[in-house]
Amino acid sequence: MCGITAYVGKGEALPFLMQGLSKLEYRGYDSAGVTVLKDGHLTTVKCKGRLTNLEEELKKYDMSGCVGIGHTRWATHGVPSNLNSHPHTNMSNTLSIVHNGIIENYRELKETLIEKGYTFKSDTDSEVVVQCLDYFYHGDIIDAVHKVLAVIEGSYALCIISTENPDKIVVAKKDSPLVIGKTDEGYVAASDTPALLAYTKDVYFLDDNDIAILTADSVSFIDKDNNPIEKEIVTIPYDMEAAQKDGYDTYMLKEINEQPHVINETLRGRVFEDKVVLNEIKDVDFSKFNKVYFVACGTAYHACLCGAQILERATKLPVITQVASEFRYNDPIIDEKTLCIYVSQSGETADTLAALRLAKSKGCTTIAIANVLGSTISRDADYTLYTCAGPEIAVASTKAYTTQLVLLTLLALYIAQDLHLDVDQDILNQLNDLPAYVENLIKDEELFANYAKMLKDKHDCYFIGRSLDYASVLEGALKLKEVSYVHADAYIAGELKHGPIALIEDGTVVIAVATQPHVAAKTISNIQETVARGADVILFTTENEEVNNVKNTYILPSINPLLQSVLVAIPLQLIAYHTANIKGCDVDKPRNLAKSVTVE
Ligand code: F6R
Repeated sequence: MCGITAYVGKGEALPFLMQGLSKLEYRGYDSAGVTVLKDGHLTTVKCKGRLTNLEEELKKYDMSGCVGIGHTRWATHGVPSNLNSHPHTNMSNTLSIVHNGIIENYRELKETLIEKGYTFKSDTDSEVVVQCLDYFYHGDIIDAVHKVLAVIEGSYALCIISTENPDKIVVAKKDSPLVIGKTDEGYVAASDTPALLAYTKDVYFLDDNDIAILTADSVSFIDKDNNPIEKEIVTIPYDMEAAQKDGYDTYMLKEINEQPHVINETLRGRVFEDKVVLNEIKDVDFSKFNKVYFVACGTAYHACLCGAQILERATKLPVITQVASEFRYNDPIIDEKTLCIYVSQSGETADTLAALRLAKSKGCTTIAIANVLGSTISRDADYTLYTCAGPEIAVASTKAYTTQLVLLTLLALYIAQDLHLDVDQDILNQLNDLPAYVENLIKDEELFANYAKMLKDKHDCYFIGRSLDYASVLEGALKLKEVSYVHADAYIAGELKHGPIALIEDGTVVIAVATQPHVAAKTISNIQETVARGADVILFTTENEEVNNVKNTYILPSINPLLQSVLVAIPLQLIAYHTANIKGCDVDKPRNLAKSVTVE
């Protein structure tokens, strides 16, 4: 899971490559590098660490040139190091490549090449691509690329430059994202659209097994059998402003603050009088389904846990929620009567994509809930509904999560409506109140920052909740651990006595959520059990619940319980954010993580 950039045009390549990599750093930041081609010579500079290290290193070199490729890495094979950084070049320094993906059969290819006299500089899977290319290259770069793609197994987005074809960049993709942009100066390519937006909004999306040949004046596309293919240019509606920090110190804080607006955007035009309007799925006959699967990873999976409960209650259809990496290998019992819903902010998560493709191969109907326009999952699904969160840059998901919750609620109500069931008008009316409630919660940021102080010197924190609140605490715990590195676990409150309560001692911080009227009193009793054992509790509940003995109780607005997950997400995000901030963590780029997980 890495980010790649490429430039061929009438201007200088380096400025595009570097600004593109800075927009793609969320995909990995273990190392970075660039190659620039000039006067028949390739200059490659690469180093371990963040892009700033590369910027320093580049000062020592003349990097002028109108053709170049760049890479920011999230290590999969081979530790983060200068040698394992991309681009990779062949022994005679006539070819250079950047790769995002995994070459699964790299060991056997490497052994074969070593037998033929090739030497390898790195431990990466990617280096076999450039050495294979060298092996197959006999004067025709496209022919060599076809031969390489025929022997490598796995996933790739590749950009290739060569001294013998100094006016061209060849790019290819399978199961890893790649977008091509047309600019006034020439053509560019990158793993994701934010890397292109400063230069162009006119893009081509590559499909799997496509190859594109870019020059300063043209782009052409071929399939794996070398047949020409036509592609339509797509104009991306985002502007650069949306991808900046807007005066906030971090993207995460900016994105938390954007939630009132983006929830509103996600609702816009989708609730009309007493009906949910989702035109994108108006052709689906929901009466044919006897079961619904929700599939996703991480935060998106937590959104699914909420969405699934809301759908089940609204439609009485049996619902199963599964993590994508489990679904794809568990031989799920699915057929053409199964509706499969895939949720993904990036729309590129490898496990979610594989799970989607599995369901399609079994004849299921698939609906994607995605945030990135034109992403692979959104294009592969039978139907796609977009959250309108805008670009989410911080690695920890915030605004994508709450907009997923809103859209999943709309979807549940829409399906109930389509099945001629009674739709809960109360929720429908209150959906429109969410942005204002969220805005008010954000105003209490200082209070949540004070709660965060309780966690500053703690190694552990436990979250508890029941029913929908359990999904909320799972997400709260994930947010806290990923940005602040405080070990955080979430438990179903009713399970405490079956083991986890052994962890509670004097001063243990327990964060509890009790917003669901049918079980809130039960959770509050469980809280008392932790208080009795010395826990310092932070409780989020509503005014309807009776609470004694819990000093840090925050009363959430009283709205329909099925919408509470959206509200409680805000304080939990802010507690995680401020804990990380107090501890001096890099909030936007937590260690070991990447924004878009395009490898399994
Ligand atoms: C956590 C987080 C991840 C993602 C997960 C799925 O804050 O962002 O857990 O939710 O990697 O990513 P998408 O939604 O892009 O499929």
